Amino acid sequence: MKIYEMTNEERIRLLVQTGYLTTKQAELLQSRRTISLDLANSLSENQIGSFSLPYGFATDFVVDGQDYLVPMVIEEPSVIAAASNAAKRIKNSGGFRTFPSSRVVYGQIVLENLTETDIETLEKKDSEIFECAQQAHPSLIKRGGGIVSLRFNRYDGFLEIELGIDTVDAMGANMVNSILEKTAHKISSLVSGDILCSILSNSGQGQVITAEAAIDFEQLKTKSMSGSEVAFRIVKLANFAKQSVKRAVTHNKGIMNGIDAVYLATGNDFRAQEAAAHSFAFESGQYQPFSEWRIKDGQLLGTLKMPIELGSVGGAISALPMAQLSLAIMKITNSKQLQSVVAAVGLANNLSALRALVTTGIQAGHMGLQSKSLAVSAGASGFEIEEVSKRLNQTKNYTIENAKNILMKLRGK
Ligand code: MEV
Repeated sequence: MKIYEMTNEERIRLLVQTGYLTTKQAELLQSRRTISLDLANSLSENQIGSFSLPYGFATDFVVDGQDYLVPMVIEEPSVIAAASNAAKRIKNSGGFRTFPSSRVVYGQIVLENLTETDIETLEKKDSEIFECAQQAHPSLIKRGGGIVSLRFNRYDGFLEIELGIDTVDAMGANMVNSILEKTAHKISSLVSGDILCSILSNSGQGQVITAEAAIDFEQLKTKSMSGSEVAFRIVKLANFAKQSVKRAVTHNKGIMNGIDAVYLATGNDFRAQEAAAHSFAFESGQYQPFSEWRIKDGQLLGTLKMPIELGSVGGAISALPMAQLSLAIMKITNSKQLQSVVAAVGLANNLSALRALVTTGIQAGHMGLQSKSLAVSAGASGFEIEEVSKRLNQTKNYTIENAKNILMKLRGK
């Protein structure tokens, strides 16, 4: 039986049987009590409950030779289907390859009211400042991370002291901010100027990763179009995105569909990721797509390059049982591995969107899936959902009124 044809319980049983979940984790999923009152209170203010979104998983991901099921939290019906669909086509052509980056987070200490002598003093004391920053978080050094760079950047009226910090497996926001504040304290004892602020940068420049997939034309064909025609049309549409900002934004939104869904599933900071992505898209001075598609050696080659700013330990990632469960399903052992999977998911969602757009258009697939949520909104429950959805797809009139009429007829009213 196909995974999408199984009941919820059958899917959970399958994950237990195949070793992706322990029985305890399965019980957590089935009880649907995934966040305790204490934890909720410790993570956010004014909380009165927990907000649920559908939790599922994409299939058929092969990334750097390893198989993955990828948990996703998403309310848009086609995203998991799209990721799985493209992942399978890519798996049949050899899978994704990724080229992970460093794990460096940059932080800024911004100073003002400095004299030229102050700046010279600070530049001369660079190793002292570096050492102070290094000692600010000794456990990070034990884990193999620490300060990797120190730069002085002059701005009009400001001096920026930029620290590059290898945060190993943590996303590192709190860690970096603590290091910066301790270092800023030291700096203020060396010169007469003022510290304006100390904060990490969400540019993600030290965490830019590349993911690649070469797809056989055969994997791209549709009922009415050959694989090579689909491939050439995908390349043209991707090239159009390089010229049109309006298209590039939508192209990138399709990539973020998958990426954000994995961020939510793993308790990662999706706001940080969105901010890093925005800045990277604009790096050349013209907003650009995160991925590029071309024909190489008789295959369609997709390359995605962008910052993936995340962690596999720390903060909400370690605190949220569901985030831990997601990492367990993916068998994630370090943050670089998670970055690779996330980049692959972005590329997969992009391929599915482009393939649909240059062939049947996306509405056929989208509305087919959306019809179920329309049926639920119209009041359908149990077996009625499938039936109303089927009839909506037959009429191709996807309105709430039509869904209500179909439901009334089904109930014999
Ligand atoms: C919809 O959520 C995402 C797409 O619009 C992406 C794209 O146009 O490439 C289908």
